[in-house]
Amino acid sequence: MKPTTLILPTHTPALFHEAVHEAARRLTAGEVVAVPTETVYGLAANALDPDAVRRIYEIKGRPAHNPIIVHAADLHMARECAAAWPPLADTLAASFWPGPLTLVVPRSSAIPDVVTAGGSTVGVRWPSHPFMRALMQTCGFPLAAPSANPSNQISPTRAEHVARTLHGRVGLIIDGGCAQVGIESTVLDITQHPPRLLRPGMIHAESILAVTGSLLTGQTGDATLRSPGLLAKHYAPQARLVIASWENEQQLHAVLQNCGGSPETTHILVHRRIPTAQNAGRVCVIPHDPDAFGRALYAELHRCDETGAGLILVEAPPDEPGWSAIHDRLRRAAS
Ligand code: TXA
Ligand code: MG
Repeated sequence: MKPTTLILPTHTPALFHEAVHEAARRLTAGEVVAVPTETVYGLAANALDPDAVRRIYEIKGRPAHNPIIVHAADLHMARECAAAWPPLADTLAASFWPGPLTLVVPRSSAIPDVVTAGGSTVGVRWPSHPFMRALMQTCGFPLAAPSANPSNQISPTRAEHVARTLHGRVGLIIDGGCAQVGIESTVLDITQHPPRLLRPGMIHAESILAVTGSLLTGQTGDATLRSPGLLAKHYAPQARLVIASWENEQQLHAVLQNCGGSPETTHILVHRRIPTAQNAGRVCVIPHDPDAFGRALYAELHRCDETGAGLILVEAPPDEPGWSAIHDRLRRAAS
């Protein structure tokens, strides 16, 4: 029999307090707990306890060579995870923490091998979600947490996404509401000069460049090896996903004909050219704004999975800087 999964709400001060207490109790005992963050939900364990972290890999079916991000309650705890803390880390922390930026720094000996997949660096971030902050202040230790989804599936932005995909595999899920950012953190490697952007996110390359003065974007084979989450096939929904543009109904019709698939199981995600005709099972309008789009995207893809979509047609977002993280995630979802 599968173990039962408890879901705890946090929408009143008393419930919030109770949930912090129960999550901290379980994490201290070496259990894995699904927790809300401002980016996506995380599958958390005590980062200093190798056995607890091993359970994360088991639950997700995550390959052992993919390192896990460590979350800290404050700057002090973040520094404790690192063997060296370059001045640039302080400048970036002052600009973007707490928030959706992960810094790859030299790893402290306190961080077990299993967290970094044996590597000499560790990804650290100080999240802004009030539940995560209260939780880590109570625990007093950093939390290793990848996104709370089975390996290679879409990251969860709501507690119900975790419940659907990891039910029975995790004992406790904390419901902290809809994730505010909605896509995973920006990952920046500052162990090299110039720093390298390993994963684009809603802390944009342009904002980082303004602080660092130089920045490598584009991915090399080497970067992919060190950060396997960069592999093209990642973050994918069950259905085939196609990105396309159209100016009118006729062009949309031609795009759909080209894709094949039956209209009833075709879901169209649009932000600008909204179809009027009945040529899809579901048409979903996402706001034409990168922040709002980022917040909504994964929830829409989860909905496509839940409702058995066969084809997801996404209207291509604009080729503008604020949209680069969204382009990145859509590209992966389409591959
Ligand atoms: O927003 C986020 O970052 C979420 C929330 C829960 O914080 N976490 C998340 O974790 O997205 P995950 O494991 O799904 O993605 C972490 C990414 C992976 O691509 C991994 O390869 C990379 O970060 N990564 C982690 N540690 C690294 C390291 N030391 N060096 C290079 N890449 C690293
Ligand atoms: Mg992930």
